[in-house]
Amino acid sequence: MYLDNVSILDHPLLQHKISLLRDKNTGTNEFRAMVSEIAMLMGFVALSDLPTKEVEIETPIEKCMTPVIAGRKLAVVPILRAGLGMVDGILKLVPSAKVGHIGLYRDEETHEPHEYYCKLPSPIEERTIVVTDPMLATGGSAVSAVDFIKQHGGKKIKFLCIIAAPEGLKRLHEAHPDVQIYVGHLDRELNENAYICPGLGDAGDRIFGTK
Ligand code: PRP
Ligand code: URA
Repeated sequence: MYLDNVSILDHPLLQHKISLLRDKNTGTNEFRAMVSEIAMLMGFVALSDLPTKEVEIETPIEKCMTPVIAGRKLAVVPILRAGLGMVDGILKLVPSAKVGHIGLYRDEETHEPHEYYCKLPSPIEERTIVVTDPMLATGGSAVSAVDFIKQHGGKKIKFLCIIAAPEGLKRLHEAHPDVQIYVGHLDRELNENAYICPGLGDAGDRIFGTK
């Protein structure tokens, strides 16, 4: 599938880690660590267009002009709960980033998202905003989260998910074609409960050890 602004990342190291995540025998500790590592690898790719500016630095040898990240810092916005698991991987890359939160849960019957929390760093307009959620299933949560961010003035938005279903990817891309979407792996389909197949089960439960 080729879509403008959609990147399906197929690096072997990323795929290896995603395979370990899928394994039902992978425990909470390892799962959490792997989600964080994957987020860092994905963030490395997704942030390759961050603007830089030249500053003067003196090395032990001589003075030189050399690039540093320019402008307003990044905002990382996890979709609660599972998106939280990806935050520290991004913060390892950009430790000074601000962190916002959007609380959404999927109704078990209708699969529609419900908002219960939204707090974003200001001014949000000037920041590159990285929304994190390991799972893009029907796309309802992702579309709502991006809607909220845009309502608050957010403009340059990147969405990082570890696993996407074709249905959710299409829905998010159609609703917000300007959002740059980065996908660790595009899975086959959704099942009748709107879970991704083969997927990895319930990401929030696996990260936080709940059931
Ligand atoms: C999961 C996941 C996404 C959402 C994806 O969260 O982390 O946010 O489902 O599904 P969708 O694309 O069909 O909206 P969930 O609602 O289970 O909440 P949790 O993270 O608190 O467990
Ligand atoms: N949310 C999850 O955590 N997993 C899925 O497969 C779908 C939605």
